[in-house]
Amino acid sequence: MNTALTRMLAIEYPIIMAPMFLVSNTNMVIEALKSGITAAIPALNFKTDAELRQAIESIQKETQKPFGINLIVNKSNPGYQQQLKTLIELNVAFVITSLGNPKEVIEKCHKQGIKVFCDVVDLDYAQKVEALGADALIAVNNKAGGHPGKLDSATLINLLKTNCKLPVISAGGVATAGEVAITLQCGADGLSIGTVFIASNECRVSDEYKQAVLTYGAADIVSTDKMSGSPLHVIKTPYVEAIGTKANVLERLLNRHKWLKKQVKKIIFKRGMRTMEKAAFSATYRNVWVAGPSIENIKSIRPVSAIVADLVQNIN
Ligand SMILES: Cc1cc2nc3c(=O)[nH]c(=O)nc-3n(C[C@H](O)[C@H](O)[C@H](O)COP(=O)(O)O)c2cc1C
Repeated sequence: MNTALTRMLAIEYPIIMAPMFLVSNTNMVIEALKSGITAAIPALNFKTDAELRQAIESIQKETQKPFGINLIVNKSNPGYQQQLKTLIELNVAFVITSLGNPKEVIEKCHKQGIKVFCDVVDLDYAQKVEALGADALIAVNNKAGGHPGKLDSATLINLLKTNCKLPVISAGGVATAGEVAITLQCGADGLSIGTVFIASNECRVSDEYKQAVLTYGAADIVSTDKMSGSPLHVIKTPYVEAIGTKANVLERLLNRHKWLKKQVKKIIFKRGMRTMEKAAFSATYRNVWVAGPSIENIKSIRPVSAIVADLVQNIN
């Protein structure tokens, strides 16, 4: 299939294995690339620059195919400058920016011929990143795992295709070949797909997390303010139900003041990251598992290659 995304990256199918904090790893990326799609991995999944460097180099050793790194561009990511330097030096094919202003990333990456795709949830922000020179929009809709957008897939694609010139890559709610086809029919130039790959053999999260993706359904996905300071789609486990999904009274009070709000957000973010890291890899009763409503259609754990073959079966 030929779309703006397949042409830009010279890939077979217009799909990105989406970057997933804690979940993505180099083996998943390598398998995705070998299966004809592309993939991105969050820089934040590596604790040190040496680890990030090693990860990029290990993928490049296995395959020449293009892949990307996801960068959090705002102050919640103290490693941002070094991560940017490293991915430019190692010449990855593209960067996906989330949160914050991507101006510097776009300027520096373009000098090296690296493409920059920006997460957007509305037209206003899409037009801003288009003016800054982004190469594509990742249109994050209200069914996305992780931090969801507000608009449904078709509405967001249509809004962006009508008002922007950039390729639109739809993110959210897709786990089947039928949904891939519908999204492309809506006018998307590609898809960024995350949740379904949690249930892959190559993914190293705990068996409990993978089983939860198989056994819970769309109705069990809730949006919580308690993990990162912004609404986050997680599975409603007994623990999530017990702690509730809304900021508590003290946090709400502190949120009324601009400076305090920032500090509270930082604390929530740090605490949430720790909780999610433990829950992703070990047995704990504090189960906070990030996923989107596309878990509804995920029924088995398969190799990445089988998941991709399934997703692209209607694409030719
Ligand atoms: C477990 C998980 C972790 C995620 N972590 C990140 C992240 O670190 N950075 C990011 O930009 N998006 C992140 N996302 C969002 C994905 O990149 C993508 O937009 C989303 O998975 C698409 O929706 P889907 O899960 O319904 O396929 C995450 C999603 C999931 C499910």
